[in-house]
Amino acid sequence: MKVTTKYVCQSCGYESPRWIGKCPSCSQWNTFQEEVAQKVNARKVIKQTQLQAVPLDEITLDETQRICTGAAEFDRVLGGGIVRGSVILLGGDPGIGKSTLMMQVAGQLKNEIILYISGEESAKQIKLRAERMSLKNMNRLLLFNETNMDVINEVIEQSAPDIIVVDSIQTMYRPMFESTPGTLGQIRECTSAFVKIAKTKSIPVFLIGHVTKEGVIAGPKVIEHMVDTVLQFEGEMHHSYRILRTLKNRFGSTNEIGVFEMRETGLVEVLNPSEVFLSERTAGCSGSTVVASIEGTRPILIEVQALVTPTSYGTPQRNATGIDLRRLALLIAVLEKRVGVMLGTYDVFVNIAGGLRIDEPAIDLGVAISIVSSLRDRAVNAQCAVVGEI
Ligand code: TYD
Ligand code: MG
Repeated sequence: MKVTTKYVCQSCGYESPRWIGKCPSCSQWNTFQEEVAQKVNARKVIKQTQLQAVPLDEITLDETQRICTGAAEFDRVLGGGIVRGSVILLGGDPGIGKSTLMMQVAGQLKNEIILYISGEESAKQIKLRAERMSLKNMNRLLLFNETNMDVINEVIEQSAPDIIVVDSIQTMYRPMFESTPGTLGQIRECTSAFVKIAKTKSIPVFLIGHVTKEGVIAGPKVIEHMVDTVLQFEGEMHHSYRILRTLKNRFGSTNEIGVFEMRETGLVEVLNPSEVFLSERTAGCSGSTVVASIEGTRPILIEVQALVTPTSYGTPQRNATGIDLRRLALLIAVLEKRVGVMLGTYDVFVNIAGGLRIDEPAIDLGVAISIVSSLRDRAVNAQCAVVGEI
């Protein structure tokens, strides 16, 4: 075995034999870390059985491929349950509730054995959380405090779980590689080890990953392509609502969202999100319109808020939260050219209530009407929902 040292950009994965200050690939500063690479002799013995390609016809599918967790919102976001043998990355800011969400799901399962590998909290801390959430079925939740992949492999062999949860992928390490846990190299190696476990044993694996300040899952983008599904758990710290969103899904749609509320006793599913997103609405206020948007497989009613004020000096401001800024610019241009609503001397701010982000063009009309409503200071009928692409 040959040992070499290389420097790897922790942001994009660019490799260099020397340390450099600025990454030539992603232009970030101070992202290079030393990692030890061990070159394993590639000429391994290949078994005869590995050399056979199989015709698609001969591959049989297991009917009970998906595990339904019983948590309706969670199942729907995954495209109808957990696919056996899939690897799911669950990303989100620290403290948003990722561990809580996985515990909640574990408590809902009726027949499966879950192995919860924690590198962050002690078994006692996890027990405290479970008590607080008054979870059921705790005899089938196996806890294991470990970060060493070699030991974890052994435990998986011995306990034969149906589902594995890894909290978090940033704390795991393979002793074979000398770089510290959390570096790009370790994250990549551990992820590939878990992918191998998932695929060979047909066990679904959830990898919890912390999002960095830049909003990138597990630091690098590198592991996003290694997993089957990428889920993002988001929400504002001072709001109790949390949104679970699919960023990538090999087994379902990617527009799906699930809405949860963080309570004293854990996360509660919000089965009718429209009620939540419209709850803070003040009737008779100008600049507010209700639009119907399809999120994944269901329609959700959302409030679009606009604020139009005269520009005090210089260029007018255009600000959008929850919709694309260029789309807002286009809608303003259409209003000016086709409707004759001149906004050249006004600042325009548009916001989607509840912290949602919407890409669907059917909300165009709602945005346009909100802008005009705020400009004229005339409220839109509170009972009216608007749908239409411009
Ligand atoms: P946690 O799942 O530990 O976050 P993460 O794993 O994403 O870092 O959630 C921590 C937050 O959730 C913490 O601020 C407390 C809050 N919380 C509740 O409000 N109610 C609960 O029942 C639980 C378990 C946590
Ligand atoms: Mg946690």
